[in-house]
Amino acid sequence: MNIVPFVHAVSWGNLSNLASALRESEIATLPQADYLRLGGELAGRFPELAEIGAHVLHQLNGPAGFCVIDDLNRLDLPPEAVAAAFVMLCHQIGTPSSHNEEHKVVWDVRDRGVGERERTFSERTGEAPFHTDSAFTIRPEEYFGLYTIHAAECGGGLSRIIPAARLLAAMNASAEGRRFRQVLERNFYPFKIPPAFSSSGRVIFGKIIDNGQLRYRHDCIRQGMAEAPARVTSEMADALAWFDALVETGVPPIEMGLAAGQAVFVNNRRVLHARSDYQDARRHLLRVRMHAFDVSAPN
Ligand SMILES: [Fe+2]
Repeated sequence: MNIVPFVHAVSWGNLSNLASALRESEIATLPQADYLRLGGELAGRFPELAEIGAHVLHQLNGPAGFCVIDDLNRLDLPPEAVAAAFVMLCHQIGTPSSHNEEHKVVWDVRDRGVGERERTFSERTGEAPFHTDSAFTIRPEEYFGLYTIHAAECGGGLSRIIPAARLLAAMNASAEGRRFRQVLERNFYPFKIPPAFSSSGRVIFGKIIDNGQLRYRHDCIRQGMAEAPARVTSEMADALAWFDALVETGVPPIEMGLAAGQAVFVNNRRVLHARSDYQDARRHLLRVRMHAFDVSAPN
């Protein structure tokens, strides 16, 4: 087992039969929505998946807020089953949600070339600045996972992480930071929904810091401010500019390059993430976002 900093050792050994179970399921013909049903059925046969999921969840809700595991590619899964297997694992951590109006639970993060609409971070090469996923939705998912099928061979495309606790501590270290933190906690900022996620073009409103949790995506907020300028006071704009600068330069990020077969899971409300610049258009990741299980629901 390859163990490097931030990579957690998990035992895949007992899951060797998963590949044959997935082969038998004729998964290549299934719509993505059926991955959840299949995942539920197979998870019952492979309790090791639940053990790995519980381990990841423990890390996500701990101080780090993220977790890397590797060797998923050692299971020798048929290529057409990799996405379903990843959904199956994600389903042990939370409830996978659909990425867009087409109800896709697995999103291919890779360069799509030039299309009709503006591409979002996950559809093009290049850098992605620090953000939380689904910042422009009413209820952003608590977690997401990224699985590397093909890493960028240009040396770029590194994942960067800043735990919210470090940002909040940096804010609390000065009177100015504490004042701006209150502005970000008390006010609702406009977030424009990008066209990749909805054709509605709506703007939703949310707090950037709420109970220690983050909701942040610079481009969506700027576009929302342009559409709803009357909803943003100069104090709110100042606090946002201060926070932007803090995120970009005030807290050193954790940086990691994920190899093929490695997956990173992130607490999307307790961690900001970004991606370094890259140009290798063959880079290919799978992404699944998850809502936390409703712990108040009856068994
Ligand atoms: Fe993201």
